[in-house]
Amino acid sequence: MKRVAIAAISLLAVATVAQAELVGKPIPIGIGVAQTSNVALLGEEEVNGAKIAEKYFNDNGGINGTPFKLIFQDTGGDEAGAINSFQNLMNRDKVVGIVGPTLSQQAFSADPIANRAKVPVIGPSNTAKGIPQIGEYVGRVSAPVAVVAPNAVKQALKEHPNIKKVAVLYAQNDAFNTSESGTFQETVKKMGLQIATIQKFQTTDTDFTTQVTAVLGANVDLAIVSGLSADGGNLVKQLRQLGYKGPIIGGNGLNTVNIFPVCGQYCDGILIAQAYSPSADPKNAINNALVKAYRDKYKKDPPQFTAQTFTAVQVFVEALKKVEAATKKKITQMELAKVREELNKQIRVGTYITPLGKISLDHEGEIHQENFYVAKIKMNPDNKTGKYIYVK
Ligand code: ALA
Repeated sequence: MKRVAIAAISLLAVATVAQAELVGKPIPIGIGVAQTSNVALLGEEEVNGAKIAEKYFNDNGGINGTPFKLIFQDTGGDEAGAINSFQNLMNRDKVVGIVGPTLSQQAFSADPIANRAKVPVIGPSNTAKGIPQIGEYVGRVSAPVAVVAPNAVKQALKEHPNIKKVAVLYAQNDAFNTSESGTFQETVKKMGLQIATIQKFQTTDTDFTTQVTAVLGANVDLAIVSGLSADGGNLVKQLRQLGYKGPIIGGNGLNTVNIFPVCGQYCDGILIAQAYSPSADPKNAINNALVKAYRDKYKKDPPQFTAQTFTAVQVFVEALKKVEAATKKKITQMELAKVREELNKQIRVGTYITPLGKISLDHEGEIHQENFYVAKIKMNPDNKTGKYIYVK
């Protein structure tokens, strides 16, 4: 009898401790993206999107009246940093879910850990093939290379119908760039173009003389660069400085205004496929709110990584509301493990009207999105600033 009573008391204690994880505080959502290292060139735009989303959704009632709080943990640019950030968010900060990391290369290391701990992850910018397949707790709002990248090749061909020979260059030490380049190569072949040379480099490289010499020697009509912002920007710069005059397509890793100071005047004209357009649909109220908040603060339109990270936070917010509706309980009264489990289910239910347009995440966590775009970089006369002009 006494033993039963003690067991009952301990059970009660466990339940109380578990519930205390969320009680009386804003609901914690983790943001594990790159705030330092070269990858912060991309991550900075993600932090901005997350912060705008935090204010916007809390101003609009949070999770059915309960505010949520974003907990930021820098991942840096490598796998170890992403793992460390995710572990802190899950175990110390006890977040209900994580938006991150910035790179697919990091996701392939950090996401399996969150998946094993049953913590939902939404990738804001991971575009490599195979991300949602990491596990049932992993999804993304960043459309994969297979559906985004081909749009840039089509646009290049529309603008330059005489393209026949193509150079493909990619950072071979990075999962996303390898994946994206595979898509570019398949697209080029399908369109009946010839791949005249394939050049590999490292994301840490700064001197691309060997690769550029090979491209010039192959006498190509189009160069396609899959790199991260710093290496990709430097490669474009050196292509132009050494005399390449044809069109250039940049991949998703170059899709940031932070490459402008890297390639300067030579960024001009780079074509980049986009999963977001700030002006695609003037009737999209949530996008209008994002654009307004971003313009008020930064005096320009929000870039793709900002919109995608805003969207990732939005998916968590709306799915948390759905958890409350489905369980008829407040999130703050539920055990953390239960919230994470229910949240992961609800993320995959229904559609979301987001700055990216109408989206859904399928049972695997893969995003389904309707519209894609292509933009061309137009540099200002100062050769340091510029903008993305949408051409499709
Ligand atoms: N889209 C890039 C990646 O997946 C940032 O790594």
